[in-house]
Amino acid sequence: MARPVLIAPSILSADFARLAEEVAALEQAGADFLHIDVMDGHFVPNLTIGPPIVAALRKVTKLPLDVHLMITNADAFIAEFADAGADYLTVHVEACPHLHRTVQSIKERGVKAGVTLNPATSLNTIEEILPDVDLVLIMSVNPGFGGQTFIASCLQKTASARAMIDRTGSRALLEVDGGVKIDNAAQVLAAGADVLVAGSAIFSTRDYAATIAAMRAAGQPSSTTPLRVSAHR
Ligand code: DX5
Ligand code: ZN
Repeated sequence: MARPVLIAPSILSADFARLAEEVAALEQAGADFLHIDVMDGHFVPNLTIGPPIVAALRKVTKLPLDVHLMITNADAFIAEFADAGADYLTVHVEACPHLHRTVQSIKERGVKAGVTLNPATSLNTIEEILPDVDLVLIMSVNPGFGGQTFIASCLQKTASARAMIDRTGSRALLEVDGGVKIDNAAQVLAAGADVLVAGSAIFSTRDYAATIAAMRAAGQPSSTTPLRVSAHR
């Protein structure tokens, strides 16, 4: 049976001057999550948005807020993002030396906890924390900017993450972020992703609903030959 496909538009590529309208359009277009990229100019070479914008978005949408923290000191901001209304808070393993503590602190606030890894970071780094998390995010570009090209090796990594999640009985959602387009959605879904993040691929089109529908349809069994899943190392 085909697994449900969730689409999480990244508002990084939205028109920030019309953010509420953009979010309403995404909601109407069938988005499942709203992916919000938080960057600190330190962990990644870009500055984006913080808790006040998350709180403002919370007021205008019922979509789950999927907040991706690309920041060095996540621990210092968890309470603020939780209070702002985040539904998921996802932290980078590279930026959290005490990852278990960080994940617990997210969950203590009633927020779902996600962990994410850069393209060059091994999946082994999340094996111990997997039972504690609600979401695993595979970065398929180096974080910092929208509109980059999908790194091909991340497809196999997604398949390995799928195998690891299934093998351990984890209920975590598997999300893929960076360079996901209509053209490669079938491959990413065949590798085992549950959630596709897409920024430029959605916002560069006029008809958000058609783009979201095309990405979702890429999950139909006939769309591609499944990637052969090799055992997790
Ligand atoms: C990159 C961000 C992504 C980005 C995706 O650091 O985490 O969420 O906005 O944008 P596209 O889909 O354009 O690669
Ligand atoms: Zn992101």
